Amino acid sequence: MKHKMKQYHLITENLSSRIAESYRVLRTNLQFSSLDKSLQTIVLTSTAPAEGKSTTGANLSIAFAQTGSKVLLIDADLRRPSLHKVFKISNQIGLTNLLLQSVAADLALREVGVPNLRVVTSGPIPPNPSEVLGSRRMHELLATLAKSFDYIILDTPPVLAVADSTILASMVDGVLLVVSVAEVSTDKAKKAKAQLEGVKANLLGVVLNGVEHAAEDDYYYYYYRARAGRQA
Ligand SMILES: Nc1ncnc2c1ncn2[C@@H]1O[C@H](COP(=O)(O)OP(=O)(O)OP(=O)(O)O)[C@@H](O)[C@H]1O
Ligand SMILES: [Mg+2]
Repeated sequence: MKHKMKQYHLITENLSSRIAESYRVLRTNLQFSSLDKSLQTIVLTSTAPAEGKSTTGANLSIAFAQTGSKVLLIDADLRRPSLHKVFKISNQIGLTNLLLQSVAADLALREVGVPNLRVVTSGPIPPNPSEVLGSRRMHELLATLAKSFDYIILDTPPVLAVADSTILASMVDGVLLVVSVAEVSTDKAKKAKAQLEGVKANLLGVVLNGVEHAAEDDYYYYYYRARAGRQA
């Protein structure tokens, strides 16, 4: 068990301009990668835990919101939810309340001090996350929310641990795989990719997390590599 308090860094705080720029580059690459197809709903996942999904999801959402797009970031990691901690808001009402109870969406769509961005935290953790996320209700909810937002970004658990992110990957327009350079094993990354492709997920690319810059205050760096095109 790790007892270390997690710290999250958002580009709205005083992160170096280079880090903020790397998220803007990721955002721009995503915009260009979807010229011909709509890319409105995006799942962020990883092979293993703690590769930086939630941090990337939060900062990418902010980067999109900063262009004036209406963005919704949803904590669909019903195993180890964290967006309420990232944005320091309560997790009493969130996604699971929207799915399991008829809670008014407004109560769950939270403002976090970033114009154009709303966040839905996980809400109480159910005993059967995979079923909840794979439910017809989840499909319907995404379809309803898609009417009000330009982008919906879903933070999810690691691919290899549980089925949740694979299930969600099949419901969205694209999937980003966050890979920590410190943790990555090529075998596992390939396995994760195969699992996502097994449900015909549209794998948009890989975000390499944790590439260090020599002798700078930047401890974050993200690089996005789009695939040349989807293989049939
Ligand atoms: N590039 C980075 N450099 C330094 N610290 C980082 C970097 N990316 C993420 N972190 C930190 O690592 C921790 C794990 O990141 P995060 O929670 O975003 O990962 P995750 O993949 O969502 O984890 P989980 O599997 O628990 O959901 C956080 O404390 C975060 O601030
Ligand atoms: Mg996370």
